Amino acid sequence: MRERGFTIDPDIRVAKTLPARVYSDPLLFDLQRERVFARTWQYAGHDDLIKVAGQVFPFTLMPGALDEPLLLTRDATDRTHCLSNVCTHRGTIVVEGAGHEQQLRCRYHGRRFALDGRFHSMPEFEDTVGFPSPSDDLPHVALGTWQRFLMVALAPTMAFDDAIAPLRERLSWAPFAQLAFDPNGARDYLVNANWALYVDNYLEGFHIPYIHQSLAAALDYGAYAVELDRHGVVQLGIAKPGEPSFQLPQEHRDSGKRLAAYYFWLFPTTMFNVYPWGISVNVVVPLAVDRTRVSFLPFVWDATQRDLGAGSGLDRVEREDEAVVEAVQRGVRSRLYDRGRYSPAREAGVHHFHRLLAEFMFGS
Ligand code: FES
Ligand SMILES: [Fe+2]
Repeated sequence: MRERGFTIDPDIRVAKTLPARVYSDPLLFDLQRERVFARTWQYAGHDDLIKVAGQVFPFTLMPGALDEPLLLTRDATDRTHCLSNVCTHRGTIVVEGAGHEQQLRCRYHGRRFALDGRFHSMPEFEDTVGFPSPSDDLPHVALGTWQRFLMVALAPTMAFDDAIAPLRERLSWAPFAQLAFDPNGARDYLVNANWALYVDNYLEGFHIPYIHQSLAAALDYGAYAVELDRHGVVQLGIAKPGEPSFQLPQEHRDSGKRLAAYYFWLFPTTMFNVYPWGISVNVVVPLAVDRTRVSFLPFVWDATQRDLGAGSGLDRVEREDEAVVEAVQRGVRSRLYDRGRYSPAREAGVHHFHRLLAEFMFGS
């Protein structure tokens, strides 16, 4: 694997972009499973999934990339948990469907667990020595909650509070109490491209005037800004005069900026796009080295603004992005292309992402 390694120069002015093989080599995609996806925070859902005590919600974390069977629960004392959904006896799936439970009971041989994952009971084990022990409990997985959103990490290398800090700091004014998930507006997009190409494209506004006519009409390209965080990027879309923007409190660091949208990206696969109408969460799920599912999950706090400005027509913008990203996937397979260079003015976010990938994949 050493010969597949790469580095990204920290100085964007001299750096080269990701080697093309990162987008197409199945062995590098395999490496990313444990080194990138298992070590970072992933979007798991919103708090309605486990709203009341006793509610359980099984799910598969990153199908295609991690395929980890997990379970969200809310126990009788109102604490929330993310647990392994694999029975500690012989390994079957414990909970098959969402519902309300007082205990978890494995249907294979009847082992019971409390909703916080602790082993409760098991028939026919009286003669088993040293049983039960802590390894008979369902393993806990790190669960982070920010406002209405739940994120999980199998082996996190950064604290959830640090990962989410950029959103906390900038969105304290937002009416989260009114935020409602709009299931009818949710969409899944299948993109025939590597997940990192989708992220590259997300992390720059450089292509907006070329690819997105409608968005270019709403945003002031010259004022578009990018800020880097340790494990994320925030892009600030500034509204053209007359286009809708946030009403930010006076003391807010961005007040007076006529902001049309915040585009928060959390390394590697989670995007929170914040508009005057609410938040569109984009979840990038790498299905295979050259196939990606992107879920758009709309959460609305002001429906009257839904069809206005930079936050409108998201389906069309997405299809424009998909078409160009799929063309890049065909291009990076070329024998005649390997690496490009960055625009220091416009591609700081992409450069930052590539540096994070190099750091997580090869420790550079
Ligand atoms: S696998 Fe769960 S009780 Fe046997
Ligand atoms: Fe785009």
